[in-house]
Parts: sequence; C-alpha cells; structure tokens
Amino acid sequence: MEIRLQKILANAGVASRRKAEELIVEGRVTVNGATITELGTKAKTKDEIAVDGVPIGRVPRKKTYVMLHKPEGVVTTIADEFGRPTVMDYAPANKRLFPVGRLDYETSGLIFLTNDGDWANNLTHPKHEIKKVYIATIRGEPTESELRKFREGIKIDGRLTAPAEIDILRSKNENTKVRITISEGRNRQVRKMCDEIGHPVISLKRIAIGDVKLGDLQPGRWRYLTEGEALCILKK
Ligand code: URA
Repeated sequence: MEIRLQKILANAGVASRRKAEELIVEGRVTVNGATITELGTKAKTKDEIAVDGVPIGRVPRKKTYVMLHKPEGVVTTIADEFGRPTVMDYAPANKRLFPVGRLDYETSGLIFLTNDGDWANNLTHPKHEIKKVYIATIRGEPTESELRKFREGIKIDGRLTAPAEIDILRSKNENTKVRITISEGRNRQVRKMCDEIGHPVISLKRIAIGDVKLGDLQPGRWRYLTEGEALCILKK
C-alpha cells in the first residue's frame, strides 16, 4: 500500500506531519536513493526512506510528552498479563511512549507518557522531590493529632515518610475529602499513610505533578504537554 511520504515520516516518529513536509520541500528526504521534493509523493513503508542520508529507522525520534487522565480500573504498564486495560490503550497510537512512574489500578488522575528516558528519570528521581498532589476521600474524619502525624512523617514499610501536606476540604456522610501533597513516590504511599492514621482511602485521584495540573482533562483523554510544562519538570 502506498502512503504519503510525510505520513510515513510522522508515523516513524521522525517529526510531526508539518515538519516532515518541510523536510521534503527542503530536499532532505530520499526514497530508494532519489531525492523527493514533491509534497503529494507516496511511498511504501518497505521503501528505503532516509532523511539527510540517515535511514528513518535510525533517525532519533522526536521527543514527545503527553499527559493522560488515567481512569480507575486501568494498570500503569505497557501490557498486562491478565488482559486488564492499560494506560497504553488510552495513549496516542504510533508513538512508542511509556508511562512515567505509576498510579495504582484503582487510582485515577494525572500520569505522563513520554519517549524521553532522561526526562522520565528526572521526574521520578527521589533527589528532585517533585511534589505530587492528590484529592482523596478517606473514611471518617482525622483529628488534629492524626493530621500532625501525617505532616511530620509516618512509618510505612519500616521507614519514615518525608513530611507531607494534608488539608481537609470537606466532611460528608462520615467520609472526608482531603488534599494530600507528597514529594516521594513510594509504593501505594498515600493509601498506606492513610491506613496508618486509621482513615483508609475510599477513592484517590492525582491532580498535579510539580507545576503541571490535570485541569479539566476528562478521564481517558490525553493531550500533549506544552513546551513550558515539559521544561518546568526538567528545571526541578
Ligand atoms: N499513592 C497511592 O497510594 N496510590 C497511588 O496510585 C499513588 C500514590
């Protein structure tokens, strides 16, 4: 099957469709050794396509940064041995992205996907202490002394947590809605901390990572990060 050259280039992750058109017009793209500058030109994926003489399989992929509103009931892995839905089912196709960090199966909210390994490492490295903000509904209503424990550090898995923030937003029907901010990323950390103060989590949603906010992005939807958002994570 023949496909427009700019689409092949974009699908291969070489550049956006528009940038790929520029590469063609600038005479930087060859198909089976012949330079193509005509924009409507089609090619087969098995043709030998190169940019600046480099076969597209070896051109560095364009760095891509995406935010996803992970719904509940979705695993944060590329594939699941039990056939459960994964974040990749909600990610843009053809981009070979991977999730950065993880959210529990039952947790919803903000998660990033990228193909930039350095960026992902930066984000998850404990030394950067990037703040993650959650809205949780917890059972019962914590007392002042329980809130203080939360803020000062709680022993989970044999180790004290770094100071966290917790603010009560409202209490209703024997449950309490709280905003929690942590700067670590330990396994099921928020759930374990809430268990320890005797107020287990009923529902949990991540609404911000660093300065990047989930905003009104709906569950199951994604969008590209703006350049500013992607950069502000790196500056931490
Ligand atoms: N803390 C948790 O307990 N679960 C998450 O998914 C994220 C943080």
